[in-house]
Amino acid sequence: MEEKIKELRAQIDEMTCKATRMEELKDIRFKFLSKSGSIPALMKQLGSVPKEERPAVGKLINEFKTWATELFDEQEKLFAQKALQLRYAAEAVDVTMPAKKHKAGHMHPVTLVRNELIDAFTGMGFTVFEGPEIEDDFHNFTALNVSADHPARDRQDTFYITDDILLRTQTSTGQIRAMETLKPPFKIVSPGRVFRCDDDGTHAPMFHQMEGMVIDKNLSLCDLQGLLDTLAKTVFDKDTKTRFRPSYFPFTEPSVEVDVTCCECHGKGCSLCKGTGWIEILGAGVMNRNVIKNCGLDPDEWTGLAFGTGLDRVAMLKYGVNNIHLLYDGDVRILDQFRK
Ligand code: DAH
Repeated sequence: MEEKIKELRAQIDEMTCKATRMEELKDIRFKFLSKSGSIPALMKQLGSVPKEERPAVGKLINEFKTWATELFDEQEKLFAQKALQLRYAAEAVDVTMPAKKHKAGHMHPVTLVRNELIDAFTGMGFTVFEGPEIEDDFHNFTALNVSADHPARDRQDTFYITDDILLRTQTSTGQIRAMETLKPPFKIVSPGRVFRCDDDGTHAPMFHQMEGMVIDKNLSLCDLQGLLDTLAKTVFDKDTKTRFRPSYFPFTEPSVEVDVTCCECHGKGCSLCKGTGWIEILGAGVMNRNVIKNCGLDPDEWTGLAFGTGLDRVAMLKYGVNNIHLLYDGDVRILDQFRK
């Protein structure tokens, strides 16, 4: 029996020495100490040992069992410690490493222009008045004095939802909505998205406008010039000059188109302004009496000024973007350049 124990002990020593993983160690423990293992098997053989030797041999087996149990416990503890150390090493964090840069979002160029204008006009006592993007024919055309046969009503220009309901083609609808809602006198700007069936390098089916209007007594074209001069100097720079050119819009009489000195060449003449030194940025005028009447106000008592500008167009001029689609393709290489 003593021989057998020696042999098993040598086996255990050798196997535990070779073991490199916890699972192997557990297998060895099972092989020797489980109910069907080699050490309990020795106990079962105790019956065949002569009676007088039994206590001594039994003691020997028990001591061997205790030794093996302690050895496995010890080894398992070492393995567990080693595994923990490895995990700590793998999960170690170098607190001196520089942090990863997180990209923060920023304003879209059209939003930048819109906010600059809103800032300038609210500074002059205007309020922001937003109307719906889905409009009816009355607010988009009829009330604005656009005749029934005006080409702008053409189905090729306007996205109609039904015969009467459409996606607004201009923020001038804000004039009508404001007159229906607010008590004169008032001053509003109405920025927002507008929609037209138009798609090329300088036109997109969705773009942005900002309408402005003033309703008060005895307003004239001279009052308009001061306002629009502020607008131009806000968006471009303080040396920007404006000029009025006579034009026609159904909702204003007289109507003007407003040019600013070219933001690229400052009036000398370049390819952007086609050599003229001037660039058109908005339409404006004294509100047509019919429009004031259509909204239930007395045109003999109230006068109005109105202007409308394309925010995308202004952003393109200001930032030198030559294709409107670059603003809406969502390409971060483009948009990143407007980080302030
Ligand atoms: N609504 C016009 C457009 O979309 C722009 C405009 C022109 C607005 C003259 C006005 C105005 O208020 O007086 O082209």
